[in-house]
Amino acid sequence: MATVIEPGALARPAAAVKGASPLPLGRILEGDCVEAMGGLPAASIDCVFADPPYTNGALWVIGSYHNIFRVGAILQDLGFWILNDIIWRKANPMPNFKGTRFTNAHETLIWAATGEKARYTFNYRAMKTLNDELQMRSDWVLPICGGPERLRTNGVKAHPTQKPEALLYRVMLATTRRGDVVLDPFFGTGTTGAVARRLGREWIGIEREPAYIDVARERIAAALPLDESALTTMHSARSAPRVAFGQLVESGWLTPGTELFDRRRRFVATVRADGSLASGKATGSIHGLGAQLQGAPSCNGWTFWHCEHEGEIKPIDALRQLYLLAIED
Ligand SMILES: C[S@@+](CC[C@H](N)C(=O)[O-])C[C@H]1O[C@@H](n2cnc3c(N)ncnc32)[C@H](O)[C@@H]1O
Repeated sequence: MATVIEPGALARPAAAVKGASPLPLGRILEGDCVEAMGGLPAASIDCVFADPPYTNGALWVIGSYHNIFRVGAILQDLGFWILNDIIWRKANPMPNFKGTRFTNAHETLIWAATGEKARYTFNYRAMKTLNDELQMRSDWVLPICGGPERLRTNGVKAHPTQKPEALLYRVMLATTRRGDVVLDPFFGTGTTGAVARRLGREWIGIEREPAYIDVARERIAAALPLDESALTTMHSARSAPRVAFGQLVESGWLTPGTELFDRRRRFVATVRADGSLASGKATGSIHGLGAQLQGAPSCNGWTFWHCEHEGEIKPIDALRQLYLLAIED
């Protein structure tokens, strides 16, 4: 995840400030981010996701070995409190073409609060549900952005370092609430804005390159469906054979709001953004809710729940198999 700027900009007495401020919600501010952030009201932002260029030097949060150690030291010197360093392990990294070093296959995301005692949001339950009832760990295996999710202009990549939506999805689902304001001072193609919009978060972007701003505006207006993300390039099933139900939701194979039902259609449940299911007032994981509704001690949700996929009724386990096949490409 991310954090940024100066601690005062983030520690906010929430809704009161948000309602009263002339915040440029849902807008991309053109220009230099340091200057633009200076114009934002104090204590108006809930979360900052900063994805700066890799060889730049200010307050950055996601980065690689080129900058992340320096960034971490600066954040600590400024009084930020590091909560986690998340390793984003790239399932399909670029090879080291010269063969002179190890393949650089990960980036680090520093998640920091504004101080040791500062309050912050962590949706522990949502993360555990997303991960099939296992605590979400600090190593995330996700593919780099590719396939239909990768934005192109006249056939050429619109941006060299577009981030995968699945990464931002997890960051926001874990550490923001509905209606929170997410600021991205290095907006690029607007991945943060697109995911924020889908998840019901407010967003503000800052970007200095007009060409990227155009791409981002078009992308967010079109609200790319989540199932465009992460389909064609991924990790091998051998290295990560296990698939949590939340991964299907997070990468767009099952959109939040989709209805699932058992084979005989006695029960219907709706998929929620964190990978949990709701059926009337009952909620739970695919396994827990299936057991609860049947009054059974346990249930294999993968074979119990079905959905419509390309005009056919299939158990969600079939989607899991398709997902595994896709990520092996
Ligand atoms: C690593 S890219 C971010 C990519 C973005 N996360 C995405 O998914 O498309 C960094 C972006 O920051 C922009 N940038 C660099 N320095 C900036 C500054 N001082 N103010 C505003 N934007 C800046 C660059 O033009 C670039 O688009």
